[in-house]
Amino acid sequence: CSEEEQTEDYLFKIVLIGDSAVGKSNLLARFARDEFYPNSKSTIGVEFQTQKIDINGKEIKAQIWDTAGQERFRAVTSAYYRGAVGALLVYDISRHQTFENVGRWLNELHTHSDMNVVTILVGNKTDLKDAREVTTAEGKSLAEAQGLFFIETSALDSSNVSSAFRTVVEEIY
Ligand code: GTP
Ligand code: MG
Repeated sequence: CSEEEQTEDYLFKIVLIGDSAVGKSNLLARFARDEFYPNSKSTIGVEFQTQKIDINGKEIKAQIWDTAGQERFRAVTSAYYRGAVGALLVYDISRHQTFENVGRWLNELHTHSDMNVVTILVGNKTDLKDAREVTTAEGKSLAEAQGLFFIETSALDSSNVSSAFRTVVEEIY
């Protein structure tokens, strides 16, 4: 068959993790459908979306998994992480507690997946300027200490959302 038909299909599994209500589902909704839900409910179980991403003219398919931050709504943890090659670890810049819990999420990620999973620390909700409780410098320094990529985003005003996903995919690819 022709060159074209032989083109490889890349499918990368990427997981969203982080505390409840940090904006994981809205980051995915913004990225995949350019939508935002001001009153979204907690995710129950697991959802995923496959999104095509163009990297240097090559089409990459990212299968992005989303689950609940709260233990009681989560599905089997090991299945969620199985086969993941990328992760977005999200906290809310307007709630310091969600940043303090980043270490726990890293532990869980490393317990259930390969150590080399490409991970980006994402400080979400930058639109909430007056409510900020985590400085950009704090976020950056934790990311550096843990060997993670770092970005701040807003699912509400769209800033840096696609960069967050693209950074992970580009690094995997
Ligand atoms: P769980 O499914 O419970 O783990 O929560 P989640 O991390 O998926 O959070 P979700 O996306 O449901 O968002 C929680 C709340 O924060 C919702 O009311 C969203 O509208 C709001 N939200 C999400 N992203 C942003 C953002 O960038 N800015 C602002 N201002 N609000 C946001
Ligand atoms: Mg959710």
